[in-house]
Amino acid sequence: MAYTVPKLKDFSAKALDKAAAKLLSALEDETKAVASEGDWKEFRDRWMGRKNGVLTQINVLWLKAAPKDEKKQVGQRVNELNKQVEAKVDTALQRAQGGASEAKLAAERVDITLPGNVRPLGAEHPIIKTMNEIVSVFRNLGYSVEEGPEIETDYYNFEALNFPPNHPARDTQDTIFIANQESKATRDRLLLRTHTSPVQIRAMERTKPPIRIVVPGKVHRNDAADATHSPVFHQVEGLAVDTNITFSDLKGTLDHAMKALFGSSVKTRFYPSFFPFTEPSADVQISCLFCGGKGYRDGGRCPNCKASGWIELLGCGMVDPNVYGFADYDAKKVSGFAFGMGVERIAILKYGVDDIQMFYHGDVRFLEQFR
Ligand code: DAH
Repeated sequence: MAYTVPKLKDFSAKALDKAAAKLLSALEDETKAVASEGDWKEFRDRWMGRKNGVLTQINVLWLKAAPKDEKKQVGQRVNELNKQVEAKVDTALQRAQGGASEAKLAAERVDITLPGNVRPLGAEHPIIKTMNEIVSVFRNLGYSVEEGPEIETDYYNFEALNFPPNHPARDTQDTIFIANQESKATRDRLLLRTHTSPVQIRAMERTKPPIRIVVPGKVHRNDAADATHSPVFHQVEGLAVDTNITFSDLKGTLDHAMKALFGSSVKTRFYPSFFPFTEPSADVQISCLFCGGKGYRDGGRCPNCKASGWIELLGCGMVDPNVYGFADYDAKKVSGFAFGMGVERIAILKYGVDDIQMFYHGDVRFLEQFR
């Protein structure tokens, strides 16, 4: 029941003690119930309101009502109670305000034990992943990385690589030319590069021998898209020029690289070939990954290597002396090798992908398998 200020008949110290104790215990209880600023205003008015607050009432019912010779004693009591009530009202306000912001905080606080918002993490595209892997094999051998423009001049893409104008080898690398360049000399005409080999010349123009570089990048051909062809694909080119570099350095380097990429049991074989910018030239074949080089599996011919036991993977050769002429290297003093490999082709073999187009469709179900 709510506290009401009693009239006093007995003004003895003992009676006053009792009355004061009751009042203070009511004050304590009501202070505890103050939870908001609204509560506090009511509380303040109940205890300190001028007209009918508890303090006004004790002033009337206790002090004024006290007989003359008790007034002093009662007055001291009432003063004390005044101070105690004021102090309680003050602290109740602080609590009410603090309590309110605490309640707000509790509502706004982040619960760090809840699971976070899951944002699906992307993954490296299998082509980029494979390209980085190839590059890192050569970085570990001390090669540095070079890049060149995708829109290239006829000079760097063909002429300086020893494809003279009208040379039939150009037919193997048909591409898209930028329109309306008839007024330019052939060598200055712009085209979408057909291979990363032009960066060989660009790098040799900038750097004196020795040079050891790999060149990852995107290339373009006038090829219709099918399961093994794409008009846009990727290559990694390599070039090493120094004094006394021989064909066995080329063989050792590429044999190491193929083992690093496909596993140490893979064998390599160098098969005579032709590229205008290397002499001699070779195609590198690796032992078939699907039949272990046997040529047959599952009781029949291995379809992956067409029963030969070998898979053709990349082109290479000793840099043709004519190429050094375009780069201002002295062909009598230096020698070196070059190679170029298709990234998609390597990724297809590494991951057993049966259609090159899968790499370009952007189908998440395909891509997330390479995480
Ligand atoms: N550029 C050639 C191509 O796209 C690949 C190649 C072959 C690059 C032999 C080389 C090389 O550097 O020596 O078919």
